[in-house]
Amino acid sequence: MSTQEPITQEPPAPKVPVHLAIIMDGNGRWAKQQGLPRTKGHERGAESVRVAIRTCRKLGIRYLTVYAFSVENWARPKAEVDALMDLLKRFLRKEEQELHDNKVRLRAIGRLSDLPKSVRRELNRVMHATEHYKEGNLILALSYGGRTEIAAAAREIARKAKAGELDPDKVDESTVSTHLYAPDIPDPDLLIRTSGEMRISNFLLWQISYAELYVTDILWPDFREEQLIKAVEEYGRRHRRFGLSE
Ligand code: FPP
Repeated sequence: MSTQEPITQEPPAPKVPVHLAIIMDGNGRWAKQQGLPRTKGHERGAESVRVAIRTCRKLGIRYLTVYAFSVENWARPKAEVDALMDLLKRFLRKEEQELHDNKVRLRAIGRLSDLPKSVRRELNRVMHATEHYKEGNLILALSYGGRTEIAAAAREIARKAKAGELDPDKVDESTVSTHLYAPDIPDPDLLIRTSGEMRISNFLLWQISYAELYVTDILWPDFREEQLIKAVEEYGRRHRRFGLSE
């Protein structure tokens, strides 16, 4: 029998995603279940965003992208759109301190010029005030559509080709990637969708090619720290192959 001391090893560090993206669905259903107006569901949903920011910082997840408003959402009743824009403005004002406390940089992707001026002003102010933070990043997808983003990239690439600034024969995947809204942000490793729908809904179409998908029946307003940790733990058990064999 060996007299050697057993080698004590540190348990391996849990695998966490670098970039987590979330389709926050189910605010309306949550409100309906509670007998409340839909806007109350969005308000509770905004609280879940705050919890997600904190939890990501705690777990060491560097990028969190949340689908806060899609290009399709403009077609909702005006009162709901107005309430969402108002909530966004209040969220930016209220959460700014939270972003500073957690050293989180705010960014936004989408057709931001569609947003009301007052929202844009608040957004630009908080983005500017937090732009020096490096470890944590909150990316709000606003007036966002994956196809819109890819079409805008294609337009810009075509424009450059026409102007002789790039060679059309050399357009490859990295050319497309670098013309998306936030080319410096790594692709999401994990995509969570709440409230059970098995859909991508035009979110980050290019970037989620190899993301792990996690769908839960929990409605977004009920998706808090415990549920997020559970999703990240499951991600940690997944074996990512990126199209390779075992
Ligand atoms: C989907 O729920 C959610 C949205 C359309 C908007 C997401 C917005 C928030 C979570 C709150 C605001 C966010 C920030 C960052 C302040 P739904 O209305 O489609 O729900 P339903 O499918 O149950 O009707």
